[in-house]
Amino acid sequence: MNLTLKIWRQDNAAAAGRFETYPVKDISEDMSFLEMLDVLNEQLQADGIEPIAFDSDCREGICGMCGLMISGMAHGPEVTTTCQLHMRSFTDGDEITVEPWRADAFPVVRDLVVDRSAFDRIIQSGGYISVNTGAAPEAHSQLVPKPQADRAFETAKCIGCGACVAACPNASGMLFLGAKITHLGELPQGQPERDARVVSMVNTHDHEGFGGCTNIGECAAACPKEIPLDVISQLNADFRTARSRH
Ligand code: SF4
Ligand code: FES
Repeated sequence: MNLTLKIWRQDNAAAAGRFETYPVKDISEDMSFLEMLDVLNEQLQADGIEPIAFDSDCREGICGMCGLMISGMAHGPEVTTTCQLHMRSFTDGDEITVEPWRADAFPVVRDLVVDRSAFDRIIQSGGYISVNTGAAPEAHSQLVPKPQADRAFETAKCIGCGACVAACPNASGMLFLGAKITHLGELPQGQPERDARVVSMVNTHDHEGFGGCTNIGECAAACPKEIPLDVISQLNADFRTARSRH
């Protein structure tokens, strides 16, 4: 495939950005989107042009580092991460626009790299869970009902990629936050700090500049881990309960 890429270039957080257009040739449909960008960067380096900065780590869909806005869609046209998006999703001659996540809470660092440390600060504000020290407890001493265990596993799949924020017109982080709240809120081990955790994490979410949820649903549609939209209802219910108790 031969493609035309319109890519956001920005020298640093303070600089004005702009789109640059680059042709890229001989792309195999078996390449991932990031491998295609690797090929482009090799071409740029050979031409004496600064390579495009973008984030990646695992390239296996598990670390959440690789988010890009591809032709207006978070992680591109498939429900997957950018590193797991393959070029067979595109056709020869396509023009593809590549941008960083757009959200005040995710400032651009350079080109396609954004600072997602606001997510880390939300998780950090959730604090720890209380456990008794000493020998490891017998595994069956605290039973977890199957529905709660399944729900906790389902929501623990969130990889913190930020696609939900990028896809949301309000740049809300509530799908991410709902996943984090639900995964511990379902388990017995998560109960002692449940109220304090949700209040602190919601406050940090708002303080970091994420928007509120208005039930549009773009977040869940873009989520590569298929976190369900109803975690936001659970988040709101937990928050109301916590505020009514304290
Ligand atoms: S909820 Fe989904 S889209 Fe949002 S950070 Fe988690 S995995 Fe990514
Ligand atoms: S590079 Fe880790 S999820 Fe894409």
